[in-house]
Amino acid sequence: MSEKNLKECLDTIKDIRSVRNYVDQPIEKEVLKNIVDCARMAPTARNIQPWEFVVVTDKDKLKNISEIIPQGEFIKSAAAGILVFCHKNTEYFLEDGSAATQNILVSARFHGLKSCWIAGYQGPYYENDDIPMCEGVPCTPIPDLYQMQSNLKKEFEVPEGFELISVVSLGYSNDNPPADKRALADVIHWNTFNKK
Ligand SMILES: Cc1cc2nc3c(=O)[nH]c(=O)nc-3n(C[C@H](O)[C@H](O)[C@H](O)COP(=O)(O)O)c2cc1C
Repeated sequence: MSEKNLKECLDTIKDIRSVRNYVDQPIEKEVLKNIVDCARMAPTARNIQPWEFVVVTDKDKLKNISEIIPQGEFIKSAAAGILVFCHKNTEYFLEDGSAATQNILVSARFHGLKSCWIAGYQGPYYENDDIPMCEGVPCTPIPDLYQMQSNLKKEFEVPEGFELISVVSLGYSNDNPPADKRALADVIHWNTFNKK
């Protein structure tokens, strides 16, 4: 890869923001296939590849997702959504599915699309009463994610043993939100945590 192309790639990766408004324009099937092709190339622990990707282009189904998952209600105006499911036959299914999800965001941007990662998985701490507290309230921003997840699994006829890791909304968009990130100098440490 030439230096110019490399710089363009890195700039594009840095340019990926969560976008929640889309124009009314369909995404070509080949583009969606290529995005999933990139997702399946992500690393997985012991190369188990526990994932399945449900690509949703049907407008009624996108609307159903938006009703099931209020924190992703904007998906009803997206051209497509990709649901990332992972089988729980590996203890690293969350990391595996997250790596695939990031590949979806990156490859979508290279195709000129904007996207948003919508929370899918709920940590195991929701399964018991031991929910960590943040300033006196449970740290879960989405307390009924468990119910949403099970409704979504029903809607998409997902077999037993799978967990929803993420939902990604995809579409063309003119939105270019600015980045709001911690500074490089603030997050980077050299050789030891104490040394910036
Ligand atoms: C695990 C995860 C879950 C997220 N869930 C949601 C969500 O449910 N709804 C939403 O609008 N954005 C969601 N986001 C997007 C974040 O809000 C966004 O990445 C963050 O505000 C930083 O903005 P940026 O992506 O534009 O840099 C999620 C992101 C991640 C990584």
